[in-house]
Amino acid sequence: MKHYNHIIRCILLLVIVVIGFFIARGALVPESFGVHGTYTYGYHRGDSAAEQADRYALYQGSTKCITCHAEQSLLWQPGRHAAVSCESCHGNWQAHNNNTSATIEKDNSVETCMLCHRKLNARPSTFPQIPEFGRHLADQDEQLQQGMLCVDCHDPHDPM
Ligand code: HEC
Ligand code: HEC
Ligand code: HEC
Ligand code: HEC
Repeated sequence: MKHYNHIIRCILLLVIVVIGFFIARGALVPESFGVHGTYTYGYHRGDSAAEQADRYALYQGSTKCITCHAEQSLLWQPGRHAAVSCESCHGNWQAHNNNTSATIEKDNSVETCMLCHRKLNARPSTFPQIPEFGRHLADQDEQLQQGMLCVDCHDPHDPM
């Protein structure tokens, strides 16, 4: 009999580990995980979809901006930049919502315009693009001067 003692201890330990696992799982796994043990939606926490849908969206789309900024919207809507949303140049609505007008991005830099309009072989040839600032100005019989910007000639809301 003495010789079985070490085997019994092993089995006891195993039983404790298995029971411990189920107790810990019951306490730690969220209730909606796998939909109450049936795993209808697989290895997934059921409540997470509703929680994600509840989060406030950072971007609200141009329709949101139009409700308050009629002046720029009336220029923008029929113009050539109608395909570029307000928030691509001004940052997300949530930042505007939380802060004063002083913090709203109004990126008028040459680099930002060139990001979309620099001439690249990869761009469709039908897309309006310019070689570089100096050349573009020379084409209009103008000279590049210190601090000159694209928005000096092109209204960003109605560029043509
Ligand atoms: C609920 C109304 C409201 C909505 C919606 C709104 N704005 Fe404004 N916005 C304001 C007000 C009020 C000011 C401050 C007015 C001012 O300073 O002339 C302002 C200021 C601004 C300014 C700075 C104006 C300046 O002269 O410096 C920009 C740019 C701007 N908004 C862009 C946006 C964009 C882009 C959106 C959409 C994501 C948007 N706004 C949505 C009310 C709104
Ligand atoms: C292509 C980029 C671009 C888009 C798209 C754009 N804006 Fe602007 N916006 C600018 C820039 C750049 C300025 C600053 C103009 C300047 O410095 O002369 C500005 C200025 C403004 C101002 C401050 C007042 C003014 O006219 O200078 C408001 C308000 C504004 N935008 C709202 C909007 C709204 C609303 C939309 C969408 C309907 C929009 N913008 C779309 C680039 C853009
Ligand atoms: C996010 C990309 C993007 C940015 C940034 C952008 N544009 Fe545009 N731009 C466009 C698109 C798209 C069109 C419309 C192209 C079309 O109709 O085929 C356009 C059209 C134009 C046109 C009209 C060209 C034509 O032949 O009709 C001009 C001019 C222009 N943009 C100037 C600017 C200036 C100046 C800035 C910086 C304030 C700027 N764009 C920033 C995407 C952009
Ligand atoms: C001195 C004024 C002036 C400045 C500054 C200027 N442009 Fe222009 N741009 C023009 C004029 C004028 C046209 C129209 C040319 C035409 O119809 O042949 C034009 C045309 C364009 C076009 C249409 C080209 C095409 O072939 O369809 C784009 C895109 C453009 N500009 C982007 C820009 C960008 C980006 C900047 C800044 C890097 C800029 N422009 C700065 C005057 C200017």
